[in-house]
Amino acid sequence: MDKILVTGGNQLSGEVRIGGAKNAVLPIMAATVIHPGVFKITNVPNLRDTRTMMELLRIIGARVDYSNHTMEIDSTSCNNPVAPYELVKTMRASFDILGALLSRFEYAEVSMPGGCAWGPRPVNFHIEALKKLGADIKLDRGNIIASGKLTGDDIEFEFPSVGATKNVLMAAVKARGKTTIRNAAREPEIDSLIDFLNALGAEISGKGTRTLVIEGVIFLKNELEFEIIPDRIEAGTFLIAVALAGGEANLIDVNPNHLTAVIAKLKEAGAEIIPTGNRLKISAPQKINAVDVTTAPYPGFPTDLQAQWMALMTNCTGSSTIIDEVYFDRFTHIAELIRFGAKIKLVKNVATITGVNTLVGAPVMSTDIRASASLILASLAATGVSEISRVYHIDRGYENIEIKFQNLGADIRRIST
Ligand code: EPU
Repeated sequence: MDKILVTGGNQLSGEVRIGGAKNAVLPIMAATVIHPGVFKITNVPNLRDTRTMMELLRIIGARVDYSNHTMEIDSTSCNNPVAPYELVKTMRASFDILGALLSRFEYAEVSMPGGCAWGPRPVNFHIEALKKLGADIKLDRGNIIASGKLTGDDIEFEFPSVGATKNVLMAAVKARGKTTIRNAAREPEIDSLIDFLNALGAEISGKGTRTLVIEGVIFLKNELEFEIIPDRIEAGTFLIAVALAGGEANLIDVNPNHLTAVIAKLKEAGAEIIPTGNRLKISAPQKINAVDVTTAPYPGFPTDLQAQWMALMTNCTGSSTIIDEVYFDRFTHIAELIRFGAKIKLVKNVATITGVNTLVGAPVMSTDIRASASLILASLAATGVSEISRVYHIDRGYENIEIKFQNLGADIRRIST
């Protein structure tokens, strides 16, 4: 199993190119199943999760080729509407396929995702919404078996769930009549899925708002080329890394508009950030100010940068709080950050961090994608050597993270043990 070794203390400088967004490409790959067709998707990051989704599409019967960040999917001969436990258990986003399969085959068998590394993560909103569209849903030996011809209806989510919004969008594209989703998620990755579906011939309006209206259509195109948006979470991770380790860097191929909340918080922390087109220049603060953060659905501060922000706050002057309002229990990184000498107390979903002058390198363990990123960030700022194990978590969501940090001047390398 690979480990990452970091000798902290180097400031970062130079340029880093941000890849395509994991959470945008995964549902778009799933959406290629809705209708038989040939798709060319560009700016696809080479991640464990994109490879897992490729495997799932092949099980369903698609032909998938991938090279140089370009993916070609031919979904013409898909004939097996089944997403098995072996895949769903390794990547919850496999559940995105449910709505797409139901739309194409009027039948789907998708393993019910279990909990994840930090908590239960239910799928009740997905199930209730699909039932409202007329699907018959049963649970059999851990598999959700959904069937039926769908008819549009009014759906209102209790919370703007990203996953449930994606599944309903995909299920409703070819349903009879009109579907309205109220309190829908409006993350850039949802907008991107809507762009993909509309380019395919779907009729979805309300993009960027909490109310989406889908008019069911009969015909969709059987050929489409589409480019994946930049990964705002990878970009945010690099911005926070520079703020923490010190130095100055240029991020290339980003969409600064997707990072408004993060940029505002980094400026409060003392960083200077200048956006120019699809670039962002960051200069680290002389001294990091303590800044409170509460995560929220987009356009709020993303839960996917909560762990990285915590790493930054461990090294600031003063004390700050981080409240996760999206996942109340996403805090497995705290125990590991404390191993670097960080001072963090957790009460329910509120972490209070008292900044320390120096973090000291230590052996630590990855627990999920973003927690792993926070450990790399802390180790870049820590004195001495840190060893991060179970890095397969980080490979799910970051392509060549150690090479990108090496190019910025960090002393970081991967070892296979
Ligand atoms: N929720 C329910 N019931 C449901 C669905 C969600 O109670 O049926 C709750 C969740 O437990 C959570 C909240 O609603 O408290 C939001 O969950 P959401 O459905 O929005 O999350 P998701 O679709 O499972 C996606 C991303 C996550 C990201 C969240 C929030 C993908 C593949 N995953 O998950 O990304 O944290 O939205 O923005 O898009 C990551 O990339 O590291 C990651 C975990």
